[in-house]
This record gives sequence, structure tokens and C-alpha cells, in this order.
Amino acid sequence: MDKREEPEKEEDEIVCLDESFFINDNYELTTFTFGSQVLQLFCLQSASTDFDLTGQLVWPGAIIMNNYLSKNTDMLQGCSIIELGSGVGITGILCRRFCRRILLTDHNDEVLKILNKNIELHATSESPTTCSGLAAEKLEWGNDDHLSRISEQYSGGFDLVLGADICFQQSSIAPLFDTVEQLLRLKGVNCCKFILAYVSRTKIMDTLVIDEAVKHGMQVSEVQGTRSVVGNHEGVIFEISLP
Ligand SMILES: C[S@@+](CC[C@H](N)C(=O)[O-])C[C@H]1O[C@@H](n2cnc3c(N)ncnc32)[C@H](O)[C@@H]1O
Repeated sequence: MDKREEPEKEEDEIVCLDESFFINDNYELTTFTFGSQVLQLFCLQSASTDFDLTGQLVWPGAIIMNNYLSKNTDMLQGCSIIELGSGVGITGILCRRFCRRILLTDHNDEVLKILNKNIELHATSESPTTCSGLAAEKLEWGNDDHLSRISEQYSGGFDLVLGADICFQQSSIAPLFDTVEQLLRLKGVNCCKFILAYVSRTKIMDTLVIDEAVKHGMQVSEVQGTRSVVGNHEGVIFEISLP
């Protein structure tokens, strides 16, 4: 083929579009109530068109998780907690009222921006004595560099690992459980458990989540009385541990 006829290689292509143009960051200060707990934070009211920006709004799993935690605040007292896939931070920020410290994590940089904005909002508007620590870090499930940085910083490990509505993408379930296993082992297998607010959307995912937990040697128990419907979906709280 004549050199001039060769199609341009993909890496030579120049796209003159700014990605920020496509990002909706018109967050609204929104009030949520979980039992006696009232919480305000910034979030979107509907999902962005970008699949990876799910964390910009509050999901049904967070409602199930926060209703559960607000009725069981004893289990949070004095704890060191890490939350996976925190999104806007509604679960972690509620926990901050009861626990010793909580690290909120997410993998998406745009989501981390709104997460940090909500942390700032609560650092100034709520009494700092309710919990000594509320922080955010980047953590992509399965990313060993991210996890090592956190493990070094929090060498004593965590008492609880929390995840609300984080099982919705098939390919991320194995890395999610790799990360959960490492976090459970950080403190010692009998000293840490994973609380998952699971929302059932497909039968395939229901099976995959349990299978992946079992593959990692974990025991999954449904917390009695937590099965509920939020929106169109049924959700439940699972307690997952390494026996
Ligand atoms: C459906 S949203 C749930 C957000 C929040 N927990 C809630 O219930 O409102 C899923 C969250 O997980 C994050 N996430 C998705 N895949 C991830 C991955 N591979 N590593 C880390 N975070 C991830 C997303 O950025 C998003 O914030």
C-alpha cells in the first residue's frame, strides 16, 4: 500500500473536546432521614449518562445500609471503619457520628471531588468530638498500590469494611472480593467483618457475589429482618467474614 494511503493510527488522532464539558456537577444540597438521624449532603438527583459516574448520587443500597446502621449504632461505637465505593459519602458520613474513625474510598476522581466536598461540609458543620477522623482516599478494587498505601497509613487495620450498592458490574466482583479479603486479613480474620448492603438486580449477579465470597473462603450470612424493597429493587444486608 502507498504510504500516503495508510489510515491514521489511533494514537495520532487529536480530539479537541474538554471532558469536563460532559460532566454534570450541579450538585444539590439534599436532606436524608434515617430513623432519628438527619443528614445533609451534596449529590445529583439523577444518574449521569456516564456509566462510571454512578457515585454522584445516592443509591438504594445506601438507604438500606443507613437505615440498618442507624438502628444498630452500637456496632459502630469505637470502631475503625473503611467504606468501599463511597460515592457522595452518605454512609461514611453517617457512621462518623458513632465510630472512632472512618476512611471513605472510591476509584473515580470526579466522585472523589464531591466526596471531599461533602467531608468538608461535615467537618465544619458537625461537632468534631463525635468522631475523630473522617477522610477520603482513592481505592480501586484490585489495585495493590492503592491498597498498600492505605495499609501503611492504617497499619492497625479496620474493625469493619462497609459497601453499599457496590455490586452492579460483573467484572468488578472478583477484584472487589480480593480487596475485601486483604482488608479482613489486615486486622485479623476474626476481628473484622464486611457489611454489604446488596441490591438484587439480576439473578446472575446474586449468584456471582455469593460464589465469589465463597471462592475467597468467606462465610456469608443474611442479617435477619433486613430484606426490604427500595424503589423497584429488593435489598438485603449481608455480613461476610473469614472464618
Ligand atoms: C452504585 S454507586 C454506590 C455509591 C454509594 N455507595 C451509594 O450506595 O450511594 C457505586 C460506587 O462504587 C464506585 N466503584 C465502582 N467500581 C469501582 C471499583 N472498581 N473500585 C472502586 N470503586 C468503584 C463508583 O465510583 C461508585 O461511587
